[in-house]
Amino acid sequence: MSNDGVNKGRRRFLTAATSVVGAAGAVGVAVPFVASWNPSAKAKAAGAPVKANLAKIEPGQMVVVEWRGKPVYVVRRTPEILANLPKMNDKLRDPEALELQQPEYVKGIARSIPGHEEFLILLGLCTHLGCAPMFRPEVGAADLGGAEWLGGFFCPCHGSKFDLAGRVLKGVPAPLNLEVPPHKYETDTVVTIGVDQEA
Ligand code: FES
Repeated sequence: MSNDGVNKGRRRFLTAATSVVGAAGAVGVAVPFVASWNPSAKAKAAGAPVKANLAKIEPGQMVVVEWRGKPVYVVRRTPEILANLPKMNDKLRDPEALELQQPEYVKGIARSIPGHEEFLILLGLCTHLGCAPMFRPEVGAADLGGAEWLGGFFCPCHGSKFDLAGRVLKGVPAPLNLEVPPHKYETDTVVTIGVDQEA
């Protein structure tokens, strides 16, 4: 009986995650709340910054925002996700994120601007050969290592894995953590991607 409850709960969660990622798959076309904030197509092509409203992202979910023709993943992390990040450290190639894959104002193992750790903002491009990693937040996913897996991103092209701070696991083809693009918070829930946070 209790197993049923767990499985149903997990299924609901997966469905929600999948539908958000699915909607976001049509980057630049069908992410309504993001589209309403976007500049014109011409400005976007020229690399204009993109504003996104984070308030509508449910905890534990991801949306995709297009910036300079690239997918930017935005994840709203739960306290549990943040608490799991240190547990991943010894499985990672660069746990402290010391290699240059982020602006200098992004700090710590959560790889966020201090005070905004709830949100993870990453370029959705694998650092191996540029495929789009899949959002796989389910702790203990059987196909990704079972109990070892605390949620993260899985690249379907050659199997690279990243945690929920975009940090690359050891022993996979990708050499570097996923990149954190320049970004700046206008308010706690409105971020501009493509502009540096002022010091
Ligand atoms: S492109 Fe991601 S593992 Fe090769």
